[in-house]
Amino acid sequence: MNQRYWDKLAKSFSKDVIELAKEDRNGVLLEELDKLASRRKTVTDLGCGPGILIPELVKRFRSVCAVDFSKKLLAVAAQRYPDPKVTFLQADLTQPIEPDSPSDVTVCSSVLILASRKKRRRVMESIVRFTRKGGTVIVTVPSLESCIHVYQTLVRLRKELGGNNGMSRPEARRQLAAELPSVLDGNVSIRGVLTKHWMQDEITQHIADAGLTVERVRRVDFSWESEIDAAPDWLGAPFPWDWMIVARR
Ligand SMILES: C[S@@+](CC[C@H](N)C(=O)[O-])C[C@H]1O[C@@H](n2cnc3c(N)ncnc32)[C@H](O)[C@@H]1O
Repeated sequence: MNQRYWDKLAKSFSKDVIELAKEDRNGVLLEELDKLASRRKTVTDLGCGPGILIPELVKRFRSVCAVDFSKKLLAVAAQRYPDPKVTFLQADLTQPIEPDSPSDVTVCSSVLILASRKKRRRVMESIVRFTRKGGTVIVTVPSLESCIHVYQTLVRLRKELGGNNGMSRPEARRQLAAELPSVLDGNVSIRGVLTKHWMQDEITQHIADAGLTVERVRRVDFSWESEIDAAPDWLGAPFPWDWMIVARR
């Protein structure tokens, strides 16, 4: 998942990548932003991609700094959201960059997904550097528990509906083992690309280890359609989810 990988996705991003802000069925991310909103506060969106969050941040904060290492994704974001309140910064978060001035609020959505532990640790260090002391960090990451829950639900669908619905248990076992070669590492292969998925305690510990104080952990629920083709309407909670952590520096 290097810069070229993300540059190549610039044209098809909305089709090929789950954009959390769009999928959040209960609006918990916006709810957390509402709690922090202030005309006096600055916000940084680390790993902003094509900038889906930018209009929501512009509404709630004094200024927005949108950071990404993909030139092409930043160009898409800058073209979509040309606003004098927004500055765009091309930077690699695995490098020890120092922001001009750390922000009151830092959002980092679906960026701590790199398979490399070392790179994830460095991104985490950047999250801290971009946030002023006493400031707030909102991080979202894919959930490993949710990934397993989706497979268990596929098995349930086969049992309840029969036919080609869902998956047989042996099929699900095989496919999950292929997608998740090591539960310990938590890297899930998504279209052949290893993507880190986190257990709740694991991401909480990771954030605490970076010196932040975790205030809340919440689930960002998605629709079943985002995970299962032709999911039946009656398939309800627990929905697939990402973890969202709100922490203070
Ligand atoms: C899955 S997308 C998430 C985009 C957006 N935050 C969202 O939630 O829809 C991951 C983003 O992180 C950026 N990214 C990944 N590694 C990065 C790094 N080392 N430095 C800066 N940006 C990075 C990618 O270019 C991409 O835009």
